[in-house]
Amino acid sequence: MLDRVLITGGAGFIGSNLAEKYLNLGHEVHIIDNLSTGSLKNIRHLQEDAKFKDRFHVTIDTIFNEEVMLELVGTCGMVIHLAAAVGVKFILDNPLSSITTNIMGTEIVLNLCNKFRKKVLIASTSEVYGKQSKAPLEETDDITFGNSGKARWSYAASKLMDEFTALAYHRTTKLPTVIVRFFNTVGPKQTGEYGMVIPRFIQQALRDEDITVHGDGSQTRTFTHVNEVCDCIIKLMKCPEAVGEVVNIGGVEEVSMKTLAEKIIEKSNSTSKLTMIPYEKVYSKDFEDMPRRVPCTDKLHSLIGMRPQILLDEILEDIIEKFRTNAK
Ligand SMILES: NC(=O)c1ccc[n+]([C@@H]2O[C@H](COP(=O)([O-])OP(=O)(O)OC[C@H]3O[C@@H](n4cnc5c(N)ncnc54)[C@H](O)[C@@H]3O)[C@@H](O)[C@H]2O)c1
Repeated sequence: MLDRVLITGGAGFIGSNLAEKYLNLGHEVHIIDNLSTGSLKNIRHLQEDAKFKDRFHVTIDTIFNEEVMLELVGTCGMVIHLAAAVGVKFILDNPLSSITTNIMGTEIVLNLCNKFRKKVLIASTSEVYGKQSKAPLEETDDITFGNSGKARWSYAASKLMDEFTALAYHRTTKLPTVIVRFFNTVGPKQTGEYGMVIPRFIQQALRDEDITVHGDGSQTRTFTHVNEVCDCIIKLMKCPEAVGEVVNIGGVEEVSMKTLAEKIIEKSNSTSKLTMIPYEKVYSKDFEDMPRRVPCTDKLHSLIGMRPQILLDEILEDIIEKFRTNAK
């Protein structure tokens, strides 16, 4: 019998894609989501698919409902904890609830996993590397954050606290925890509403509006297709050596935001032009952005024998096509 998988934040971008993968592998999947940034649209096709009728269960509620969580964690085989306040813009708009969700929410999940001795994956982020600008970034690298007057660092600090808590459970109670640091993960179903760059640029390009690039556009990132991220999660949850470890999951191709915008204009045959907007006009005046964020994925590869390799052109073509199809 395959494990019953509980996915917190399962109506979100990564969660809904992961739920679909686990269902296709034959697992029973239960998701819990309060729809704060997730959407029923992301999972409707799974609910309507006759193949998954008795294997896909949805609870619309918060992970802070301990009675509901007690039942869900108690009856599953493993937990993938993705529910969180996500994205720099969302964090800046909701500073207090974001910290509560990310720290106390994760503590609830870990406490229940410990009670029922369930293996759990904790979703962290490349943001925890803070001001570290070396490339590539390794899991053992030191970390420096900006000061606490700069609210954007609260996302990184809260996710780092999740890592410490998960590692502490593992060290003190041998709870099987796997911690992943996602670098920018992209793909169909991601919304640009909360500041995610690729869906925002693509929506602007498809409407032939100016593409608004923050700063001077020289900052670089890598992007990973959500399909590959989900494959990595599934393999890591089956890998005994990943227990008690922190693992980067990220893409290979470094690109500046200016080049990214130009590629999107070209691939979508858009007449959009680039407009550079200073950070202080988008965020508060003390906002800081990182010039570079490139992952080392050697540890991931040594654990599961694969690392994300879909190139940016293919990723962009896939997302542009899905945006066009959905707009019809
Ligand atoms: N997408 C990325 O590039 C990226 C990068 C780094 C880290 N992450 C992490 O991956 C995870 C998933 O992110 P995503 O990109 O799918 O974002 P998302 O916003 O689509 O998913 C998060 C989900 O959690 C749900 N949620 C939030 N608070 C909740 C609560 N209290 N109870 C129940 N559900 C709640 C939201 O409604 C949403 O569906 C998050 O933990 C995020 O921090 C994502």
